[in-house]
Amino acid sequence: MAEKIFVFSGKGGVGKSSVTAAISDSLLKMGKKVLCIDADIGFRSLDLILNVGNQVVYNWLDLIEDRCDKDKAILKTENLPDLLASPNEPSSSITFDSFKKMIDSVEESYDYIFIDSPAGSDSFHEILAKVCNKALLVVTPDSICVRSAEVAVKRAENANNNIDIRLVINRFNKNEVIKGKQLKLDDVIDNVHVQLIGVVPEDDTIRTMPDNDGRLSRRALFAFKRISKRVMGESVMFNPKDFS
Ligand SMILES: Nc1ncnc2c1ncn2[C@@H]1O[C@H](COP(=O)(O)OP(=O)(O)O)[C@@H](O)[C@H]1O
Ligand SMILES: [Mg+2]
Repeated sequence: MAEKIFVFSGKGGVGKSSVTAAISDSLLKMGKKVLCIDADIGFRSLDLILNVGNQVVYNWLDLIEDRCDKDKAILKTENLPDLLASPNEPSSSITFDSFKKMIDSVEESYDYIFIDSPAGSDSFHEILAKVCNKALLVVTPDSICVRSAEVAVKRAENANNNIDIRLVINRFNKNEVIKGKQLKLDDVIDNVHVQLIGVVPEDDTIRTMPDNDGRLSRRALFAFKRISKRVMGESVMFNPKDFS
């Protein structure tokens, strides 16, 4: 059975899709079988971040509504995680049962399935939280994002009280903290009450992933590698240098 990981935030634009793509890629490079599911209906972006935007034909709703089989729906590209793209429109056929059945039909081929969610926290997020056993809460170090994350965590836990949530603090910039323009890591952790799994720096190569063939800087690659190892259950020490 695959680990199914719900990537969520509350507020939009905090880096869920970038973090999903980069951690998936890192796990793939460590020999894992990884599927990314873009669940941002109408606003898909994982295909662009993974640089396969022009190859998407089918999506996971085609699988739910029996328009194709999983071999057609899943976009497989050498050296990239597999991708189930998002539909352009919502549909009444998206229910907990149909979504779970779709996941059940593909999961045997994977070690990890990441579900990249849209912003917000509604009934669709409840479905996503319920089908997953783990979650990554992505937060940027600012009070608006932290407050929305607190709400999103409560809703995810209400939907699935067994879900194991870990915190990714994204776009961290020590100089901004010194200037008082970003929250300190401790303050973020204390407010969201979720165990930290890693810190991702503010980094130009992450920002430009869709336009630079996904090539990341060394420090970005290392940040994602450390998180990926922790996702795999390895104990990787937190080092103050990770945050500088
Ligand atoms: N660590 C980072 N450093 C710099 N830019 C980032 C970082 N993480 C995300 N971004 C940028 O922030 C924007 C929103 O990221 P995205 O992954 O689309 O967020 P979400 O999926 O939460 O809406 C994108 O332009 C992305 O390139
Ligand atoms: Mg996104």
